[in-house]
Amino acid sequence: MWTITGDSTEYTVNDRIELVAWGPHGVTDGPSAYAFHGKVQYMLPGDVAALEYAPDGLRPFTGADLSVAGHALTWRLDGVEDGDGLTATLVDDVTGLRATLRWRFAPGTDVLERWATLHNGGPEPLTLTRLDSAGFTVPTPAGATLHYLWGQWAQEFTPATTILTRGRFQIGSELGVTGHLFSPTLTIENGDAAYGVGLAWTGSWHLTADADNAGLTRIRAGRSVTGEPVRLGPGETVTTPVAVGVYSADGVDGVARQWHAYERHLAGERLGRTRNVIYNSWEATTFDVTADGQLALADVAASLGVETFVVDDGWFVGRHDDTGGLGDWTPDPAKFPDGFGAFVDAVRAKGLEFGLWVEPEMVNPKSALYAAHPEWIYQAQGRPRSTIRNQYLLNLGREDVFAFVRDTLDGLLTTYPIGYVKWDFNRPRTEADRDTADLDGAHVRNLYRVLDHLRTAHPDVTIEGCAAGGARVDYATAARTDVLWPSDNTAPLDRLRIQHGFLSAHAPHLMSSWVTDAPGLFDVQKRSLAFRFVLASAGVLGIGADITRWSPSERAEAAEWIARYKAVREVITRGEVHRIGGPDQARCAVQYTHGSRVVVLAWNAGGLDGQDTVPARDIRLPLRGLEPTARYRSGTDTYSGSHLMAVGLPVRWTVSHDADLVELERQ
Ligand code: GLA
Repeated sequence: MWTITGDSTEYTVNDRIELVAWGPHGVTDGPSAYAFHGKVQYMLPGDVAALEYAPDGLRPFTGADLSVAGHALTWRLDGVEDGDGLTATLVDDVTGLRATLRWRFAPGTDVLERWATLHNGGPEPLTLTRLDSAGFTVPTPAGATLHYLWGQWAQEFTPATTILTRGRFQIGSELGVTGHLFSPTLTIENGDAAYGVGLAWTGSWHLTADADNAGLTRIRAGRSVTGEPVRLGPGETVTTPVAVGVYSADGVDGVARQWHAYERHLAGERLGRTRNVIYNSWEATTFDVTADGQLALADVAASLGVETFVVDDGWFVGRHDDTGGLGDWTPDPAKFPDGFGAFVDAVRAKGLEFGLWVEPEMVNPKSALYAAHPEWIYQAQGRPRSTIRNQYLLNLGREDVFAFVRDTLDGLLTTYPIGYVKWDFNRPRTEADRDTADLDGAHVRNLYRVLDHLRTAHPDVTIEGCAAGGARVDYATAARTDVLWPSDNTAPLDRLRIQHGFLSAHAPHLMSSWVTDAPGLFDVQKRSLAFRFVLASAGVLGIGADITRWSPSERAEAAEWIARYKAVREVITRGEVHRIGGPDQARCAVQYTHGSRVVVLAWNAGGLDGQDTVPARDIRLPLRGLEPTARYRSGTDTYSGSHLMAVGLPVRWTVSHDADLVELERQ
């Protein structure tokens, strides 16, 4: 048996490469929850065992992690190495396929990273029809309660729950991108604890949960290669994406905090950078970008205390609307008559960092790039191709396209003093030539190559990931970007829901959010400027409204909120998060705790309490993780930790007071 150890949990595997224990430190010391008694009728022991990586030759009833066309793979264990986590090598002697499995806890967290390296050591080419990263098994004696996030454009990160007593549940994407439809994380509650499983991959993927008949649920996490098998020639190797698993005794919210810890680990030293307050021009000007118009916005932005000014779509030649221009990344001289360099300098002269929107993997048929390279797009030989938002997707898996994208970005970043890039992706892959090996893998790996290149060649540039809102939010993107745009929906109550869901799987330092004047799509109730500022302060604060239209008093209030955000942003972007209630409950708040400092953001997502015409009591926000006997001060109020945790921080909503930002300091 081998036990590997995370921050407060451990994971133990036996010499059949089956799971023995997963839980808090010391959990291995006792009879395994995965051991079974009784006769194995009409199946094999492998069908009931908690296999770590199931080959389909064992035909496990709950499905295989690895399948090779024409072969029934069966493993022989060829060695285990203990050190930097665990490494086990399994071999199928007939094909010569070797699977090297890795387990490793991300330092300082309880997040277990697992992946497999598959090497064809035999003489024949192999076609992999399934190549998952890992299988995670959870004891679910009374069935599994599965929590996941679904969505669509403008409605990302919507939480949902399903009870799986027996059988199969699957979420994923077949679109060559993480997608709007589901987030690649799944939380499994078994009544006693919660477990999270996720996948760090920006292409097609699946998370498949199978509840067996003897009290286990097994979750397979991997790339989806449906219709696009991966071919492995003799001597070739492919590495799966990293799958992540976490156990938390603190339930679903505890799993969320572990995902946050993991993303802080992925950010590395870049976590220490101050998240600037940004202004983004998209909602104010859409494609109608002009130097004068942008400078007028930048003037007001600077006066409010904004630190980075981002010019969104519409700045390059041929981009008057969404029918043209993508691919031709040259500033439009008609829009910047004094030159783009002079424009960027003028923005920077206001004390603002300059940022720019790009969508480098795309091309409009109406562009010089498409005229020069029609062969660069994805297409299925001889079959119709579809545009989405009037654009095609470039095959970034090609080396020439990769070089074009990298050089285009290098060119922009070296020609102009750009400190911030918003990288967008507004259409998924649809038709594609199936003759080419591993299209999805080639595209995603080259995407990572460009992002990794940008981080090394232009280390001071902040990168915001965006994909028609939140279609590219996953742990691999989180490792290569500084902020992520969760949704194009910025309306107050819609956004509150989206952000609450986002925070269940992703950390606040990644959550880009703007204050805008947008009306709701799903919930049209109006909310105050304060509500919208407190909401956008829940992660990385930005403004996206047409601030030239804001009144002097709105601007003065905005400047105050921005100053308040700056005073607490370290707590918000680095702190431990506890979500209190939710947008559809009587109370809705997020608590951030960082050292002795606590910040609580609270919103009234519903109605009022009768406004003193009837007896009513304050809403109480029970805080978490405080020191019971310590005193916490907020302005002139002080409370004991016990009071704040057991009774809660009081808030009272009125027509004009619908949100609050409360700072508490442990005395
Ligand atoms: C996408 C993004 C938006 C904006 C537009 C520009 O929809 O999600 O934020 O950048 O593209 O075309």
